[in-house]
Amino acid sequence: MRTLAAATTVAAPQVVAHRGASADVAEHTLAAYEKAIADGADALECDVRLTRDGHLVCVHDRRVDRTSDGRGVVSTLELADLAQLDFESWAGAGRWQAEGVDRDERGVLTLDRLLDLVRSADRPVQLAIETKHPTRWAGRVERSLIELLDRHGLARPRPGEASTVRVMSFSSTALRRVGEIAPGLPLVWLTSRHRLGMSAGRATGVRMPAMGGLVAGLPAGIGGFGPSIGLLRERPDLVEAAHRRGRAVHVWTVDEPADLRLCLDLGVDVVITNRPAALRSQLLRL
Ligand code: G3P
Ligand code: CA
Repeated sequence: MRTLAAATTVAAPQVVAHRGASADVAEHTLAAYEKAIADGADALECDVRLTRDGHLVCVHDRRVDRTSDGRGVVSTLELADLAQLDFESWAGAGRWQAEGVDRDERGVLTLDRLLDLVRSADRPVQLAIETKHPTRWAGRVERSLIELLDRHGLARPRPGEASTVRVMSFSSTALRRVGEIAPGLPLVWLTSRHRLGMSAGRATGVRMPAMGGLVAGLPAGIGGFGPSIGLLRERPDLVEAAHRRGRAVHVWTVDEPADLRLCLDLGVDVVITNRPAALRSQLLRL
């Protein structure tokens, strides 16, 4: 953790660009990640899914309809099909389009390509990879992921070495699998009010003691706890509970100044945002 420029004792959280600089550029595109790096993000976040022919691609939704000019379910399409689609232009007029980027670069972004970008950045940049619905694949997503990370030399950080990559998931089973194949890779368990069965305004299915035990119940190998900002607003005590149990807190998605302020006040370790430039400048003003 770093200290804010204003020479205070306040610790600055790591700023992670959610799907790239996705408030400005079409999410999960190379252009969005290039902008995030230019905007000063410490790390990049991406969602990954497996194609029918076993490639990991950076797509959030089950289908490609929202973020490309095509239609269909990612897991039923092959990489060659996805490469033909345009993932850049859907965001529409007024958004930054990657001028001069040729059609090949507008196709789906593979995790392989994103790892190349991270490794070739002119400063250290980390990557937070979220596996989407991995349980459906009975371990195949995790095995493919570690195989790819191994090819990039990023799956097995040495003890004490800061890892370039961390893996995040809403599924603790998926994280456990990753931990078994690649012990030492940092893991973050994600959750939200919705996931915990909390209705608007109050916890229904989850009582206070159960919430306290949430972090305690995490497997020892999972070092990161990733609540949504909505959960954190309602249960700010979770940060201290996580820290007491040696877990770093990664909060998503922090786009509003008041939410960043809350995260700073609580000592959150990592903020995940669609607006890395805005957060970076708010942190500089503090
Ligand atoms: O960083 C965690 C966050 O990305 C989880 O939600 O739906 O944006 O993938 P989602
Ligand atoms: Ca995500």
